[in-house]
Amino acid sequence: MTFPDTVPHDLPPSDDNTDDSAGADKPHPLHRRLKSFVKRAGRTTDGQARAFAELGPLFLIPYTPEPLDLTAAFGGRVAPTVLEIGFGMGEATAHIATVLPETNFFCCEVHEPGVGALLKRIGEQSISNIRICAHDAVDVLDHMLQPGTLAGVHVFFPDPWHKKRHNKRRLIQPEFVTKLAQHLRPGGYIHCATDWQPYAEQMLEVLAAEPLLRNTAEGYAPKPDYRPLTKFENRGIKLGHGVWDLVFERA
Ligand SMILES: C[S@@+](CC[C@H](N)C(=O)[O-])C[C@H]1O[C@@H](n2cnc3c(N)ncnc32)[C@H](O)[C@@H]1O
Repeated sequence: MTFPDTVPHDLPPSDDNTDDSAGADKPHPLHRRLKSFVKRAGRTTDGQARAFAELGPLFLIPYTPEPLDLTAAFGGRVAPTVLEIGFGMGEATAHIATVLPETNFFCCEVHEPGVGALLKRIGEQSISNIRICAHDAVDVLDHMLQPGTLAGVHVFFPDPWHKKRHNKRRLIQPEFVTKLAQHLRPGGYIHCATDWQPYAEQMLEVLAAEPLLRNTAEGYAPKPDYRPLTKFENRGIKLGHGVWDLVFERA
């Protein structure tokens, strides 16, 4: 399997991702749109490599620019499906899949060691309700997933792209949120979380402006029980940093 160029996110979620030498503010000549991730080196451990070899064939769904039969992807299991975008090392993903066993989780991540790490957790915790697509979630939404089908979308600690000139790389932008909302079934939800206040403010503004969505809270939402505090988040909280959750529903 080949992986797109990406950022290693064994880094804390607030990592700045501003490697100017990588031309972070310019699209690659072969890419027509800016990506929400950028190439950096990553290291796959032996355990992750073993997980790829043993569990990859069962849990990895190859990217193809064609509509995906979600039920078939989950081995015929009919269940509400939540899309997770950018699961990093998969700590929260594995936890949530365990506490919500009646939900299918279709999870996109472009960072190879992260994919290996989640496969490893799937094996260690005998998780059956996760499938992984190791590809850009934007393409996955555009080509594989059908409008009106998702029960939810999770976007936890997306790359904050701190510098103003890189803000346009942030995932939560009006056009992308419209696309996410269109992929939700009625009553479906989008749950975002971030520890970067300016991005939280952008998320609130963009989600609130999307006519297909309504806020489930007055402004920011209380953290839903299913989302665990990851080690990065705990570290941030100890340093006095805030975390903002946002939960919007499709009307
Ligand atoms: C800052 S990390 C957060 C990881 C994890 N959600 C957490 O809370 O620790 C953001 C992750 O999103 C991934 N990512 C960014 N853009 C993506 C995209 N368009 N499709 C899939 N993954 C993406 C990155 O590779 C990275 O691992």
